[in-house]
Amino acid sequence: MDTHVVDHPLAASLLTTMRDAGTDNPTFRSALRELTQMLIYEAIRDAEIEEFEVQTPVAPARGVRLATPPLLVPVLRAGLGMVEQASSLIPQSQVGFVGMARDEQTHQPVPYLESLPDDLSGIPVYVLDPMLATGGSMVRTIELLVTRGAVDITAVCVVAAPEGVAALKDSGFPVRLVTASIDEGLNDDAYIVPGLGDAGDRQFGPR
Ligand code: PRP
Ligand code: URA
Repeated sequence: MDTHVVDHPLAASLLTTMRDAGTDNPTFRSALRELTQMLIYEAIRDAEIEEFEVQTPVAPARGVRLATPPLLVPVLRAGLGMVEQASSLIPQSQVGFVGMARDEQTHQPVPYLESLPDDLSGIPVYVLDPMLATGGSMVRTIELLVTRGAVDITAVCVVAAPEGVAALKDSGFPVRLVTASIDEGLNDDAYIVPGLGDAGDRQFGPR
């Protein structure tokens, strides 16, 4: 599986703000939005483009646009904090929604919402979730996409644990990962270490 870690001082600085337990919720949300912009910018780099002609005030010029508008899929709740920035960078994108709540005893994902187009064949899909911990929620989400014919899937995550990266690899699904960091691992509660805590709670409060 192709994994791309965005290695940039501005991304690292935003991630530091998000990691800091002293960062309040509004500042955390704002850092997530800005970091999403950088992750999407990198994730889109190899997307297929098509050329077309535009007229500048002076002369005709060759222009480019994305060949196929992608589908963005935020995984609720925490992925919601990434979707506004991602869709403003790619205004022609569409948005589908998946809701997953991890059971904090078993660490298994519990799906509670699935709002996706029926046919995803030929459509690039970007799954937005700040955290890839055990990988259970992401693999479950990708299953839903593959069932609908998706073959070009990118997981866009702020922080990934090696266990989550391995789970994506082992799934055999057609997915690549773009992240700002691969951290040390998981603790006994399956939280990423050092991580940034609970990305949903830090944006929206405890559920
Ligand atoms: C978090 C996170 C991922 C999941 C990662 O969501 O946003 O979806 O946990 O863990 P995993 O890789 O072990 O599955 P959570 O279930 O806490 O829900 P929330 O976004 O509503 O807070
Ligand atoms: N979900 C989170 O929000 N944070 C973690 O570290 C693991 C799962």
